[in-house]
This record gives sequence, C-alpha cells and structure tokens, in this order.
Amino acid sequence: MKPFYLTTPIYYVNDAPHIGHAYTTVAGDVLTRWHRQRGEDVFFLTGTDEHGEKVMRAAEKNNVSPQKWCDDLVESAWKPTWSALNIANDDFIRTTEPRHEERVQKFLTGLKDAGHIYLGKYEGPYCVGCEEFKLPGDLIDGNCTTHSRPCEILSEENWFFKLSAFVPAIIKHYEENPAACEPASARNEVLAFLKGEVSDLSISRSTFDWGIPVPWDTKQVIYVWFDALLNYATAVGLTDDPTSEGGKKFAKYWPADVHLVGKDILRFHAVIWPAMLMAAGLPLPGKVFAHGWLLVGGEKMSKSKLTGIAPKDITDTFGVDAFRYYFLRAIPFGSDGSFSWEDMAARYTSELANDFGNLASRLIAMIEKYCGGVIPAVAQSPELSEALAKTVVEADAAIVALDFQTGINSIMDFCKKVNGYVTLTEPWKVAKDESRTVELNEILYNIAEAIRALAVLMHPIMPATCEVLWSSLGADKTLGTIAAQKISEVATWGQLPAGSQVVKGAVLFPRLESANEA
Ligand code: ME8
Ligand code: MG
Repeated sequence: MKPFYLTTPIYYVNDAPHIGHAYTTVAGDVLTRWHRQRGEDVFFLTGTDEHGEKVMRAAEKNNVSPQKWCDDLVESAWKPTWSALNIANDDFIRTTEPRHEERVQKFLTGLKDAGHIYLGKYEGPYCVGCEEFKLPGDLIDGNCTTHSRPCEILSEENWFFKLSAFVPAIIKHYEENPAACEPASARNEVLAFLKGEVSDLSISRSTFDWGIPVPWDTKQVIYVWFDALLNYATAVGLTDDPTSEGGKKFAKYWPADVHLVGKDILRFHAVIWPAMLMAAGLPLPGKVFAHGWLLVGGEKMSKSKLTGIAPKDITDTFGVDAFRYYFLRAIPFGSDGSFSWEDMAARYTSELANDFGNLASRLIAMIEKYCGGVIPAVAQSPELSEALAKTVVEADAAIVALDFQTGINSIMDFCKKVNGYVTLTEPWKVAKDESRTVELNEILYNIAEAIRALAVLMHPIMPATCEVLWSSLGADKTLGTIAAQKISEVATWGQLPAGSQVVKGAVLFPRLESANEA
C-alpha cells in the first residue's frame, strides 16, 4: 500500500507562530498519528516559507539579513513550538535549503523547455501580505480584503506560466473527483473561480533579490508561491533521477494524499498547484482540504494585524493535550470559529477533567482499594463491548474523512457511556457485600477494559496524557507501547490481562487554578 503522505502549509517566517498555525499543524499531527495507528506507513511534512518580500521586509525592519532572520526564527520559535505541541513530523523543509532551491530550479527549467513559460509584462495590484497578484474583483476600494490595506501597483517584465491552458483540465478533475477539494464549499468556490476568467501567472520578480534565481535569467527571482508550493514535492525528491535515492523516494510518496491548508490559501493549492503538476506531467494530490479561520473580533487572527495568540499562552494554563483536543473538538473542521477562554475552560473541566480524567482516577483507586492493585479476571459487558465496536467504526470513518469533531464526539460519547455504567453498577456499594466479589471484579474489569480502549482512541489526539494512562493501567508491560496498538483491534474485548499491576499516576487533567478560568 502507498504510504499516507500529508502536508501542512509551510508558514511565512515574518513572525513567530500563533494558534492559527498551530491549529493546522495539530490537525495534521492528529490525522497522521491516527493513520499510523491504522498500521499505515506515514509521511508527515511541515516547514517554513522563507523567501519573498514579506519575509525580506520583516528582516529589514529588524536590521538583519533575511537569511539570519529566518535561521533565528526557525530555531527559536517555529521548531520549538512544534516540539512543545508534540508534533511528530517526519521532515521539516525550509525553502532556503539547497535541496529545495536546486530542485525548484530544475523543475522550472523543465517547464520552460516544455514550452509552458514565456516572457511578458505584469501590470496591476500586488498584496505583499498575501504575496499575491490581485484581480480587481479581489479588492474593496483598492484594499486587500484579507489585510485591509492598499495593494502596491506593480509594473514589471516577468516570466509567465501558461496557467490558463490548464483550466479546462482542472475543472474536469474536480468534477470527476469531488474529494480532491474539500469541503464542498471550498470546491464550489474553486470551480466558480475556474469558470471565470483565469489569466496566466507571473512567476518571477525583478525588483528585489530575496528568492531563488530564475536559472536562465538571474536578474529575476522566482515568485515566492511558485517556489513555496513546490516544497511538497521537493521534500520527497522531485526531479531526481529515478534510480537515485531521491527518485525512489519520490516514486514511493508522490502524490501527496492530503494538503491541509487554511481557506486563505485555497486558490494557490487548488488552482495554481495542480496546473504546475499537470504541466510537468505529474500526478495530482489526492485532496486539498481547506479548513476555516480562527477569528479574533470577527476577523482572521493574523501575524500582520498583531492579533495572534501564542500557543504557549494557552498551554501554560490548560496543558498541551487539552490544547490539541480543544480546537478539533469545538470547531467543525472547515468552519470558522472564535477562540474563547471561557468555552475552553468549560470543556476542559467538564469533558477532560470530569468525564475522562476522573473516570480513570476512580478506576485506578478502586482497583487499588478492592483488588490489591491488580486487574481482576477477564469479564465482558455486552453493552460496553458493543458500544465500543460501534464507536471505533464511527470514529475511524469520521477522522479519516477529516471530520475531527464527529470522531472525537463519538469517542467522548463512549466515555460518557462508561461513566453511566459506573453510576449504574455502583461498584463501591457492591464492594460492601462480601458475597458479591465476583460481580465487583467483573464491573471493575469492564471499566478497566473500556479505559484501555479510550486511551488508544484518544492517543492520536492527546498522546502524552494517554501514555501516562496506559502505563498506569500496567498495559505498557503487558500489551506493548500504546503507539503500537492498532485501531482495527481496539474493539477486541478482553485485552488487558488479569493480574497486571495498576499504578496510580499523575492526575491527567489537574483542576484549573483560578476561579474565573473555570
Ligand atoms: O500562507 N485560522 O503562510 P502563512 C486558522 N507561506 N488557520 C490559520 C490562521 C487563522 N487565523 N492564520 C494562519 C502562507 N493559519 C504561505 C503558505 S504553502 C505552500 C505556503 C494557518 O504563514 C492556515 O493553515 O500566512 C493558513 O492557511 C496558514 O496558517 C497561512 O500561514
Ligand atoms: Mg497569511
């Protein structure tokens, strides 16, 4: 089976990451971890977009060279944020790396040789915030609608890519493969755009030099988006000789299965990128998925408007795993959503601390108190085991389809069901009657086994917490690592072996400190 290959956007390093960037990257991490637990070979790519005027101007403002600016920010802010959020990417690509620059130049030369590039003149508005050539219809009173400020008017002799020539084939592609652009609202927007007037694309700039030189005209640099989109393919060996290591890697991983993006950059991914691939005779990605925006005061949270909230501002209070959980749980993937401290605190307390965390700590406490800390004999509750089987099917279908909210809801519904079972069976009462020991052991086994499954299902979403829970069940010593547990086997009842020792671990979701946060 072809490995599952997922990408995030490569983010501009004009500033440090905010929770909007983390939203996409966490979603990608959850999805790839889920696929790994399905037993698939996975490749998860993220990285940084370092060329272009926007990054160059940020460096100038700070009186450092663009390269030093990028090096410093990538090492001090971007990579540390991803490791703090427990992002398990397989590669991190920077567009200033030689492995990328060389392949971009080779790719462009190939397109020129094939007759897809010509010299022309570009005159019109350009938004440096978007790094985008704008159409009159994209602007309101001459202002970019994303950045609410005037565009710059460019007049340059540039190299052009024959984008328009590929429009009919791209329309056909989406009409035949609706899953190639999701959600449906995004696909409709792309199709409407494609059915309007699409002009060719200027793919070089001559008025500054922070970019990859056009190989045959080194006074020009390659347009930053043309350079950036190629990262998805250069990272896995685009243009390398098929017999070389890079060439073999490319054959193994290309095309990507999912490009995760925010809806702000949908057109680049769903129009320009497939045209570039078609021009080179390469297969198209399986899916471009455009999620919605995190809003602040009704507008897109952004670096340039200084409305970004740093992930650390939230994780310092709620922890990394609650952060990973919250956005995917609270906002339907594909819709916009506002971050609210109150909503996050409320869900933290009711869903994570009460429903999930308390369930686990009560179970461990009861096993210690009534069973000497040892998992009792295997039993099976038909009610719980049937509910679990249904949950796994539902959650798997939803998450693989990028409907994280439905997937997490079905796992949390199972968690509620287990809590209901505890309330109904009242093990603390059963424990008072010595003649009911068998019944007590059965109840406790069923709860333990349900929590075993919950830990595995929640692991892609909250890896560190679920690892703690896994070892407190003693499962690491008997069933192997939690990462090795397969989604397809999680519903098989009776896996926790009788006799394994439970260990009281740290509280999974500590009580929030101050009253106004709870
Ligand atoms: O566009 N809500 O980089 P960028 C949700 N370098 N997601 C958000 C967000 C918000 N308020 N703000 C940012 C670029 N994002 C290019 C990409 S790819 C070949 C080149 C996320 O730093 C979301 O994924 O502006 C969005 O598409 C991306 O960050 C834009 O990051
Ligand atoms: Mg942006």
